[in-house]
Amino acid sequence: MYKLSGVTKNYAKGRENVAALRGVDLVVEDGEWLSIQGPTGHGKSTLLQILGGLDRPSSGIVDFDGRDLAQLREAEITRVRATSIGFVFQTFNLVPTLSAQENVEAALVPLHVSAAVRRQRAAVALDAVGLGDRLRHVPGELSGGQQQRVAIARALVKEPKVLLADEPTGNLDEDTRDEIIGLLETMWRERGLTMVLVTHDSAVARRAQRIGVMKNGRLSFRPPARAQAARAQAAHYGPSDLPAGPLQPPDLPAGEEPPADPVPAG
Ligand SMILES: Nc1ncnc2c1ncn2[C@@H]1O[C@H](COP(=O)(O)OP(=O)(O)OP(=O)(O)O)[C@@H](O)[C@H]1O
Ligand SMILES: [Mg+2]
Repeated sequence: MYKLSGVTKNYAKGRENVAALRGVDLVVEDGEWLSIQGPTGHGKSTLLQILGGLDRPSSGIVDFDGRDLAQLREAEITRVRATSIGFVFQTFNLVPTLSAQENVEAALVPLHVSAAVRRQRAAVALDAVGLGDRLRHVPGELSGGQQQRVAIARALVKEPKVLLADEPTGNLDEDTRDEIIGLLETMWRERGLTMVLVTHDSAVARRAQRIGVMKNGRLSFRPPARAQAARAQAAHYGPSDLPAGPLQPPDLPAGEEPPADPVPAG
């Protein structure tokens, strides 16, 4: 799905230059769920924005299904975003004056489908996230968890290949967080989505197949808990596709890097 090489991003702020990404190499396979953790201000959102074509790198290649997002013209990037990439944000980013239904329909406007089809697809998408009875509510009349469900319906109504989520549970209590992650997991599994999820929450990150850690603009990887990885892979691909090789070492506590060259036990 994605193949990034040597991606850098520098922001010029007055006389200062911030190197937000310092050479990121990353392959994301079709149907993979990757979580990205890391301290605040170390480039996670910057990387997500570049994956989503919301921003361009200063240098490097951002191959998305054979096309370099760094080189596409603006109109082409807009088209890729409208058809293939869904976003979910921490603060939901719904339009406060539009109903749930209208917020979701808005994602279909760039696709030039008829108003009737927009209405019908938005209703189906809201039903799929459990909000079939809230179509006419505006965001202010919905709980945080419900607003995030609307945002997920808006991201998925266009049937994108990729879902990019930046701290999607950052504003939610633990129970609601678990509901939302459960919903994302169901959508990922049932729709064969590719998902990249930025989170500070290790309990959320661990649900992914793979965990990346952004530190000082560089990305490294941490092996996921083997049981969860196996469960996620079995659910997504079927047990026959599980790798036959040795099992991964167990997850590490937050903040610890995996050893560079693990010594085999015994
Ligand atoms: N538009 C911008 N202009 C200037 N500097 C920016 C801009 N966006 C991000 N930065 C800087 O780039 C660095 C990385 O920011 P980024 O938002 O990617 O961090 P993050 O890892 O997502 O942090 P958090 O966990 O707090 O969301 C920070 O030092 C930030 O100040
Ligand atoms: Mg961020």
